Amino acid sequence: MKNYKITLIKGDGIGPEIIDEAVKVLDAVASLCDFHFNYDEALMGGVAYDITGDPLPQETITKSLQSDAVLFGAIGGPKWDDLPREKRPESGLLRFRKELGVYANLRPAVVYDELINASSLKPEIIKGVDIMVVRELIGGIYFGEPKGRTDEKGWNTMVYTRDEIVRIAHQAFRIAQKRDKRVCSIDKANVLDVSQLWRDVVTEVSAEYPDVELTHMYVDNAAMQLVLNPKQFDVMLTGNIFGDILSDEASMLCGSIGLLPSASVGEKIGVYEPIHGSAPDIAGQGIANPIATIASASMMLRYALGEVEAADKVDAAIKKTLSEGYRTGDLAQFDAKEVCSTSEIGSIIANYIEK
Ligand code: IPM
Ligand code: MG
Repeated sequence: MKNYKITLIKGDGIGPEIIDEAVKVLDAVASLCDFHFNYDEALMGGVAYDITGDPLPQETITKSLQSDAVLFGAIGGPKWDDLPREKRPESGLLRFRKELGVYANLRPAVVYDELINASSLKPEIIKGVDIMVVRELIGGIYFGEPKGRTDEKGWNTMVYTRDEIVRIAHQAFRIAQKRDKRVCSIDKANVLDVSQLWRDVVTEVSAEYPDVELTHMYVDNAAMQLVLNPKQFDVMLTGNIFGDILSDEASMLCGSIGLLPSASVGEKIGVYEPIHGSAPDIAGQGIANPIATIASASMMLRYALGEVEAADKVDAAIKKTLSEGYRTGDLAQFDAKEVCSTSEIGSIIANYIEK
Protein backbone atom coordinates (compact mmCIF):
# COMPACT_ATOMS: atom_id res chain seq x y z
CA MET A 1 0.00 0.00 0.00
CA LYS A 2 1.31 3.45 -0.88
CA ASN A 3 2.23 5.60 2.09
CA TYR A 4 2.42 9.38 1.76
CA LYS A 5 4.20 11.61 4.22
CA ILE A 6 2.33 14.87 4.72
CA THR A 7 3.51 17.77 6.85
CA LEU A 8 0.56 19.50 8.48
CA ILE A 9 0.99 23.12 9.47
CA LYS A 10 -2.17 24.17 11.23
CA GLY A 11 -1.04 27.65 12.22
CA ASP A 12 -3.21 30.24 13.94
CA GLY A 13 -6.84 31.29 14.22
CA ILE A 14 -9.15 28.95 12.31
CA GLY A 15 -6.12 27.05 10.93
CA PRO A 16 -6.40 24.03 13.26
CA GLU A 17 -10.17 23.67 12.71
CA ILE A 18 -10.01 23.69 8.93
CA ILE A 19 -6.96 21.40 8.72
CA ASP A 20 -8.73 18.83 10.91
CA GLU A 21 -11.58 18.68 8.40
CA ALA A 22 -9.21 18.30 5.46
CA VAL A 23 -7.51 15.40 7.26
CA LYS A 24 -10.90 13.78 7.83
CA VAL A 25 -11.63 13.96 4.10
CA LEU A 26 -8.13 12.82 3.11
CA ASP A 27 -8.39 9.76 5.36
CA ALA A 28 -11.81 8.93 3.93
CA VAL A 29 -10.59 9.04 0.36
CA ALA A 30 -7.34 7.20 1.18
CA SER A 31 -9.17 4.24 2.68
CA LEU A 32 -11.28 3.94 -0.47
CA CYS A 33 -8.41 4.39 -2.91
CA ASP A 34 -5.99 2.09 -1.13
CA PHE A 35 -3.29 4.42 0.05
CA HIS A 36 -2.36 5.78 3.43
CA PHE A 37 -1.21 9.05 4.96
CA ASN A 38 1.38 9.59 7.65
CA TYR A 39 0.97 13.06 9.08
CA ASP A 40 3.61 15.01 10.88
CA GLU A 41 2.71 18.34 12.45
CA ALA A 42 5.00 21.36 12.30
CA LEU A 43 4.79 24.84 13.75
CA MET A 44 4.54 28.13 11.92
CA GLY A 45 3.12 31.56 12.63
CA GLY A 46 2.06 33.07 15.93
CA VAL A 47 1.81 29.68 17.60
CA ALA A 48 5.41 28.93 16.60
CA TYR A 49 6.53 32.29 17.93
CA ASP A 50 4.76 31.69 21.24
CA ILE A 51 6.41 28.30 21.72
CA THR A 52 9.86 28.83 20.19
CA GLY A 53 10.33 32.59 19.79
CA ASP A 54 10.57 32.15 16.00
CA PRO A 55 7.57 32.22 13.61
CA LEU A 56 9.39 29.70 11.40
CA PRO A 57 11.51 27.20 13.35
CA GLN A 58 14.17 25.44 11.27
CA GLU A 59 12.57 22.10 12.13
CA THR A 60 9.49 23.10 10.15
CA ILE A 61 11.54 23.65 7.02
CA THR A 62 13.45 20.40 7.49
CA LYS A 63 10.31 18.33 8.09
CA SER A 64 8.54 19.92 5.13
CA LEU A 65 11.39 19.23 2.74
CA GLN A 66 11.38 15.58 3.81
CA SER A 67 7.71 15.03 3.12
CA ASP A 68 5.70 14.43 -0.04
CA ALA A 69 3.65 17.60 0.40
CA VAL A 70 2.69 20.26 2.91
CA LEU A 71 -0.88 21.05 3.87
CA PHE A 72 -1.12 24.43 5.52
CA GLY A 73 -3.97 26.24 7.30
CA ALA A 74 -3.44 29.92 8.02
CA ILE A 75 -1.32 32.20 10.20
CA GLY A 76 -1.50 35.58 11.91
CA GLY A 77 -3.74 37.51 14.26
CA PRO A 78 -3.94 40.74 16.26
CA LYS A 79 -2.03 39.15 19.14
CA TRP A 80 1.19 39.28 17.10
CA ASP A 81 0.60 42.47 15.09
CA ASP A 82 2.88 44.64 17.21
CA LEU A 83 5.92 42.39 17.11
CA PRO A 84 8.98 43.50 15.15
CA ARG A 85 8.43 42.60 11.51
CA GLU A 86 10.80 39.60 11.42
CA LYS A 87 8.99 38.00 14.36
CA ARG A 88 5.55 38.41 12.85
CA PRO A 89 3.69 35.31 11.64
CA GLU A 90 3.54 36.70 8.09
CA SER A 91 7.35 36.91 7.96
CA GLY A 92 7.48 33.23 8.88
CA LEU A 93 5.18 32.39 5.97
CA LEU A 94 7.18 34.47 3.49
CA ARG A 95 10.46 32.89 4.62
CA PHE A 96 8.84 29.47 4.38
CA ARG A 97 7.79 30.06 0.77
CA LYS A 98 11.27 31.34 -0.06
CA GLU A 99 13.10 28.45 1.66
CA LEU A 100 10.95 25.88 -0.12
CA GLY A 101 11.36 27.70 -3.42
CA VAL A 102 7.64 27.63 -4.18
CA TYR A 103 7.69 30.36 -6.80
CA ALA A 104 4.39 29.57 -8.49
CA ASN A 105 1.15 30.10 -6.62
CA LEU A 106 -1.84 28.64 -8.45
CA ARG A 107 -5.19 30.02 -7.37
CA PRO A 108 -8.18 28.69 -9.25
CA ALA A 109 -11.38 30.71 -9.02
CA VAL A 110 -14.20 28.52 -10.20
CA VAL A 111 -17.82 29.44 -9.67
CA TYR A 112 -19.89 26.54 -8.37
CA ASP A 113 -23.30 26.54 -10.11
CA GLU A 114 -24.75 25.57 -6.74
CA LEU A 115 -23.63 28.93 -5.33
CA ILE A 116 -24.52 31.11 -8.26
CA ASN A 117 -26.59 33.35 -5.97
CA ALA A 118 -23.83 33.77 -3.40
CA SER A 119 -21.74 36.16 -5.45
CA SER A 120 -22.32 39.88 -5.16
CA LEU A 121 -22.36 39.90 -8.98
CA LYS A 122 -25.31 38.97 -11.18
CA PRO A 123 -25.60 35.26 -12.04
CA GLU A 124 -25.31 35.88 -15.79
CA ILE A 125 -21.95 37.60 -15.26
CA ILE A 126 -20.41 34.83 -13.22
CA LYS A 127 -22.01 31.60 -14.46
CA GLY A 128 -19.23 29.47 -15.88
CA VAL A 129 -16.32 31.55 -14.55
CA ASP A 130 -13.18 29.40 -14.45
CA ILE A 131 -10.03 31.42 -13.89
CA MET A 132 -6.57 30.30 -12.84
CA VAL A 133 -4.48 33.02 -11.24
CA VAL A 134 -0.78 32.13 -11.59
CA ARG A 135 0.93 34.37 -9.07
CA GLU A 136 4.69 34.72 -8.70
CA LEU A 137 5.27 34.03 -5.00
CA ILE A 138 8.87 34.54 -3.92
CA GLY A 139 9.91 37.76 -5.61
CA GLY A 140 8.65 41.25 -6.36
CA ILE A 141 7.94 43.90 -3.76
CA TYR A 142 7.45 41.30 -1.01
CA PHE A 143 11.16 40.48 -1.07
CA GLY A 144 12.93 43.31 -2.92
CA GLU A 145 15.83 45.24 -1.42
CA PRO A 146 16.33 47.89 -0.27
CA LYS A 147 13.51 48.07 2.21
CA GLY A 148 13.21 49.76 5.55
CA ARG A 149 11.61 52.43 7.64
CA THR A 150 12.37 55.30 9.90
CA ASP A 151 9.85 57.46 11.71
CA GLU A 152 9.69 59.72 8.67
CA LYS A 153 9.96 57.34 5.76
CA GLY A 154 9.14 53.75 4.76
CA TRP A 155 10.25 52.03 1.55
CA ASN A 156 10.07 48.74 -0.35
CA THR A 157 11.38 47.85 -3.78
CA MET A 158 9.67 45.92 -6.53
CA VAL A 159 12.37 43.89 -8.25
CA TYR A 160 12.09 41.11 -10.82
CA THR A 161 14.97 39.47 -12.61
CA ARG A 162 14.64 38.01 -16.08
CA ASP A 163 15.04 34.46 -14.72
CA GLU A 164 12.26 34.91 -12.19
CA ILE A 165 9.90 36.13 -14.90
CA VAL A 166 10.90 33.38 -17.33
CA ARG A 167 10.14 30.53 -14.92
CA ILE A 168 6.74 31.82 -13.80
CA ALA A 169 5.80 32.62 -17.42
CA HIS A 170 6.57 29.02 -18.44
CA GLN A 171 4.30 27.78 -15.65
CA ALA A 172 1.45 30.00 -16.86
CA PHE A 173 1.79 28.92 -20.49
CA ARG A 174 2.02 25.23 -19.59
CA ILE A 175 -1.08 25.50 -17.44
CA ALA A 176 -2.91 27.38 -20.19
CA GLN A 177 -2.08 24.58 -22.65
CA LYS A 178 -4.18 22.25 -20.49
CA ARG A 179 -7.03 24.76 -20.25
CA ASP A 180 -8.50 27.26 -22.70
CA LYS A 181 -5.05 28.28 -24.05
CA ARG A 182 -5.23 31.95 -23.10
CA VAL A 183 -2.84 33.84 -20.86
CA CYS A 184 -3.49 37.42 -19.77
CA SER A 185 -0.36 38.87 -18.19
CA ILE A 186 -0.99 41.60 -15.62
CA ASP A 187 1.40 44.49 -15.05
CA LYS A 188 1.74 48.24 -14.65
CA ALA A 189 4.09 48.76 -17.59
CA ASN A 190 2.76 52.25 -18.23
CA VAL A 191 4.39 53.38 -14.98
CA LEU A 192 6.88 50.81 -13.65
CA ASP A 193 10.17 49.75 -15.26
CA VAL A 194 9.96 46.40 -13.49
CA SER A 195 6.62 45.86 -15.21
CA GLN A 196 8.01 46.77 -18.64
CA LEU A 197 10.67 44.09 -18.17
CA TRP A 198 7.93 41.69 -17.05
CA ARG A 199 5.90 42.43 -20.20
CA ASP A 200 8.90 42.08 -22.54
CA VAL A 201 10.09 38.81 -21.01
CA VAL A 202 6.61 37.25 -20.95
CA THR A 203 6.25 38.16 -24.62
CA GLU A 204 9.61 36.50 -25.40
CA VAL A 205 8.63 33.32 -23.55
CA SER A 206 5.29 33.22 -25.38
CA ALA A 207 7.14 32.53 -28.65
CA GLU A 208 7.66 28.98 -27.35
CA TYR A 209 3.91 28.50 -26.98
CA PRO A 210 2.36 29.38 -30.36
CA ASP A 211 -0.81 27.50 -29.39
CA VAL A 212 -1.46 29.87 -26.45
CA GLU A 213 -2.86 33.36 -26.96
CA LEU A 214 -1.09 36.04 -24.91
CA THR A 215 -2.61 39.38 -23.99
CA HIS A 216 -1.37 42.03 -21.55
CA MET A 217 -3.43 44.14 -19.20
CA TYR A 218 -2.65 46.89 -16.72
CA VAL A 219 -3.45 45.84 -13.19
CA ASP A 220 -5.93 48.66 -12.54
CA ASN A 221 -7.87 47.74 -15.65
CA ALA A 222 -7.69 44.05 -14.69
CA ALA A 223 -9.28 44.84 -11.33
CA MET A 224 -12.14 46.48 -13.21
CA GLN A 225 -12.44 43.80 -15.92
CA LEU A 226 -12.65 41.07 -13.27
CA VAL A 227 -15.97 42.41 -12.06
CA LEU A 228 -17.16 43.72 -15.44
CA ASN A 229 -16.62 40.55 -17.44
CA PRO A 230 -14.73 37.83 -15.58
CA LYS A 231 -15.42 35.20 -18.24
CA GLN A 232 -12.89 36.87 -20.55
CA PHE A 233 -10.09 35.40 -18.40
CA ASP A 234 -8.58 31.93 -18.56
CA VAL A 235 -5.08 32.14 -17.00
CA MET A 236 -4.08 35.40 -15.32
CA LEU A 237 -0.31 35.68 -14.89
CA THR A 238 0.74 38.13 -12.19
CA GLY A 239 3.60 39.27 -10.00
CA ASN A 240 3.46 38.76 -6.26
CA ILE A 241 1.47 41.72 -4.98
CA PHE A 242 -0.84 42.10 -7.98
CA GLY A 243 -1.75 38.42 -7.64
CA ASP A 244 -2.34 38.79 -3.92
CA ILE A 245 -4.87 41.54 -4.56
CA LEU A 246 -6.53 40.12 -7.67
CA SER A 247 -6.95 36.64 -6.19
CA ASP A 248 -8.91 38.06 -3.25
CA GLU A 249 -11.05 39.96 -5.73
CA ALA A 250 -11.54 36.82 -7.85
CA SER A 251 -12.65 34.91 -4.77
CA MET A 252 -15.69 37.12 -4.42
CA LEU A 253 -16.87 36.11 -7.87
CA CYS A 254 -17.31 32.70 -6.27
CA GLY A 255 -19.32 33.89 -3.28
CA SER A 256 -16.96 33.40 -0.36
CA ILE A 257 -13.25 33.56 0.21
CA GLY A 258 -13.83 30.43 2.27
CA LEU A 259 -14.04 28.38 -0.92
CA LEU A 260 -10.79 29.07 -2.72
CA PRO A 261 -7.85 26.68 -2.58
CA SER A 262 -4.30 27.18 -3.76
CA ALA A 263 -1.16 25.30 -4.60
CA SER A 264 2.31 26.77 -4.27
CA VAL A 265 4.83 24.83 -6.28
CA GLY A 266 8.46 24.98 -7.31
CA GLU A 267 11.22 22.53 -8.03
CA LYS A 268 11.20 20.76 -4.66
CA ILE A 269 7.91 20.47 -2.87
CA GLY A 270 4.39 21.85 -2.95
CA VAL A 271 2.47 23.73 -0.27
CA TYR A 272 -1.30 23.45 -0.39
CA GLU A 273 -3.30 26.09 1.44
CA PRO A 274 -6.57 28.03 1.34
CA ILE A 275 -6.19 31.58 0.04
CA HIS A 276 -7.96 33.05 3.06
CA GLY A 277 -6.36 34.13 6.30
CA SER A 278 -6.63 32.94 9.90
CA ALA A 279 -9.91 34.79 10.61
CA PRO A 280 -9.13 35.39 14.31
CA ASP A 281 -12.58 36.95 14.78
CA ILE A 282 -14.30 33.59 14.28
CA ALA A 283 -11.55 31.26 15.50
CA GLY A 284 -12.56 28.49 17.90
CA GLN A 285 -16.29 28.89 17.23
CA GLY A 286 -16.60 25.99 14.81
CA ILE A 287 -18.18 28.15 12.11
CA ALA A 288 -15.33 28.55 9.62
CA ASN A 289 -15.80 27.20 6.12
CA PRO A 290 -13.39 24.27 5.64
CA ILE A 291 -14.09 23.93 1.90
CA ALA A 292 -11.10 26.01 0.74
CA THR A 293 -8.79 23.75 2.74
CA ILE A 294 -10.50 20.55 1.61
CA ALA A 295 -10.23 21.76 -1.99
CA SER A 296 -6.53 22.51 -1.33
CA ALA A 297 -6.13 18.93 -0.12
CA SER A 298 -7.68 17.86 -3.41
CA MET A 299 -5.10 19.95 -5.31
CA MET A 300 -2.44 18.20 -3.22
CA LEU A 301 -3.78 14.79 -4.24
CA ARG A 302 -3.86 15.83 -7.89
CA TYR A 303 -0.60 17.74 -8.30
CA ALA A 304 1.76 16.52 -5.59
CA LEU A 305 0.76 12.87 -5.35
CA GLY A 306 -0.70 12.19 -8.78
CA GLU A 307 -3.81 10.66 -7.16
CA VAL A 308 -6.13 12.11 -9.78
CA GLU A 309 -9.00 9.72 -9.14
CA ALA A 310 -8.96 10.53 -5.43
CA ALA A 311 -8.87 14.26 -6.18
CA ASP A 312 -11.88 13.89 -8.50
CA LYS A 313 -13.75 12.09 -5.73
CA VAL A 314 -13.07 14.90 -3.25
CA ASP A 315 -14.13 17.55 -5.74
CA ALA A 316 -17.34 15.63 -6.47
CA ALA A 317 -18.08 15.30 -2.76
CA ILE A 318 -17.66 19.05 -2.24
CA LYS A 319 -20.03 19.74 -5.12
CA LYS A 320 -22.58 17.27 -3.82
CA THR A 321 -22.46 18.84 -0.35
CA LEU A 322 -23.14 22.25 -1.83
CA SER A 323 -25.86 21.05 -4.19
CA GLU A 324 -27.62 19.31 -1.30
CA GLY A 325 -27.76 22.70 0.40
CA TYR A 326 -25.30 22.19 3.27
CA ARG A 327 -23.60 25.50 4.05
CA THR A 328 -21.40 27.07 6.69
CA GLY A 329 -22.46 30.45 8.06
CA ASP A 330 -20.62 32.53 5.44
CA LEU A 331 -22.99 31.09 2.82
CA ALA A 332 -26.08 30.72 4.99
CA GLN A 333 -28.20 33.19 3.01
CA PHE A 334 -27.65 31.39 -0.27
CA ASP A 335 -30.02 28.51 -0.96
CA ALA A 336 -29.06 26.81 2.31
CA LYS A 337 -31.08 23.79 3.33
CA GLU A 338 -29.09 23.45 6.49
CA VAL A 339 -26.49 25.66 8.16
CA CYS A 340 -23.68 23.47 9.46
CA SER A 341 -20.63 23.77 11.66
CA THR A 342 -17.09 23.41 10.36
CA SER A 343 -16.86 19.80 11.46
CA GLU A 344 -20.32 18.89 10.19
CA ILE A 345 -19.38 20.10 6.70
CA GLY A 346 -16.15 18.09 6.89
CA SER A 347 -18.04 14.96 7.90
CA ILE A 348 -20.66 15.40 5.18
CA ILE A 349 -17.97 15.78 2.52
CA ALA A 350 -16.08 12.76 3.91
CA ASN A 351 -19.28 10.70 3.81
CA TYR A 352 -20.06 11.75 0.26
CA ILE A 353 -16.76 10.38 -1.08
CA GLU A 354 -17.85 7.65 -3.45
CA LYS A 355 -16.36 4.21 -3.86
C1 IPM B 1 -1.89 35.28 0.90
C2 IPM B 1 -1.76 36.12 2.14
C3 IPM B 1 -0.29 36.33 2.45
C4 IPM B 1 0.30 37.08 1.27
C5 IPM B 1 0.01 37.04 3.78
C6 IPM B 1 -0.64 36.35 4.94
C7 IPM B 1 1.48 37.18 4.00
O1 IPM B 1 -2.45 37.31 1.99
O2 IPM B 1 -1.38 34.14 0.89
O3 IPM B 1 -2.52 35.73 -0.06
O4 IPM B 1 0.23 38.31 1.20
O5 IPM B 1 0.87 36.42 0.39
MG1 MG C 1 -3.63 37.41 0.21
